[in-house]
Amino acid sequence: MVQRIWNFSAGPAVLPEEVLLEARDNLLSLGTTGIGVCEHSHRGKAFVAVAEEAESLCRQIAGIPDDYAVLFLQGGASLQFSMVPENFLDRNATADYLVTGAWSEKAIKAAGKYGSTHVACTGKAENFSAIPTDVSYSEAPAYVHFTSNNTIFGTQFRTEPSGYSDDAFLVCDASSDIFSRPLDISRYGLIYAGAQKNLGPSGVTLVIIRRDLIERGSTDPAEMLQYRTHAANDSMYNTPPTFGIYLMSLVFRWILRQGGLAEIEKANQAKAAILYDFLDSSSLFHATAAAADRSLMNVTFVTGDAEQDAAVVSQASAAGFSGLKGHRSVGGMRASIYNAFPAAGVSALVDFLKQYEAAQ
Ligand SMILES: Cc1ncc(COP(=O)(O)O)c(C=O)c1O
Repeated sequence: MVQRIWNFSAGPAVLPEEVLLEARDNLLSLGTTGIGVCEHSHRGKAFVAVAEEAESLCRQIAGIPDDYAVLFLQGGASLQFSMVPENFLDRNATADYLVTGAWSEKAIKAAGKYGSTHVACTGKAENFSAIPTDVSYSEAPAYVHFTSNNTIFGTQFRTEPSGYSDDAFLVCDASSDIFSRPLDISRYGLIYAGAQKNLGPSGVTLVIIRRDLIERGSTDPAEMLQYRTHAANDSMYNTPPTFGIYLMSLVFRWILRQGGLAEIEKANQAKAAILYDFLDSSSLFHATAAAADRSLMNVTFVTGDAEQDAAVVSQASAAGFSGLKGHRSVGGMRASIYNAFPAAGVSALVDFLKQYEAAQ
């Protein structure tokens, strides 16, 4: 078999090796059915069992109460940028957005097509290197939207935003930190996440939504764009992304084998500390995110010299560390170390960076 290398990609990202091996076997025959997992009808018994298991494991992992629906949709997190306002933002209403990075900028832009938007805070002046503490909500927002982890800028909310009107519900784009730590679902109206970082392959989007909101949603959008359509049809109104749902169910089982979200969080904290501790002690490299807001998922760092950064990325790549080039809006390096990224890979990167620094 080809040797796998350390993959720091921001997404699609590394998946647990045991999940990939199990999926490999089931590509030819799902269990003993004699039909590969991608070849089963989504309406057949075998796949329906997979989908039901995926939902039930998801509920178990996150303690999702019965008054929330779990949906497996398509169109990525990007479609949710539009689907949320399409369902919940009337032309004469306002939605509040905490703008903490490029993805929340895209989300608020999409909402602007449907109704009014209010910037509750923005970190743009500091190039999104910190989560703003000064947040000011509009009087009666339909909902409050935030991005729990800013994949590009390497910042992460420690806790959910609060202090907005009781009538508003909280919407979260959790694409890059879903199930990386325990979460209290009851604080949210709707959580969405593209799968391709912590949950599985691209092509499936997990949506967790309070059932009363499903009913409240507008009936104006096309059927495919209404949450009620997908909820009423167990996410099978049309052909669902069957392989993605299958792989997600394997990742959910893997999360449970790790001990669930509390253990996953401990592992993520320990893993990120290996890298941040090094960056804090280095005289060449430094982390770009404010210490209090540092992401456990995406560690962004620079040398302060673009040419030097490029040399680091290129030498790292030659040494078997892939995907370290930072997003063009931040520059430098970004190590994405989602749930499935092994601690050994973070230690190996730190060893490499130490050697690089010593050679300067
Ligand atoms: C936080 C966040 N939101 C949204 C997206 C867009 O996701 P998708 O490509 O699934 O539309 C990304 C992609 O990286 C992301 O990191």
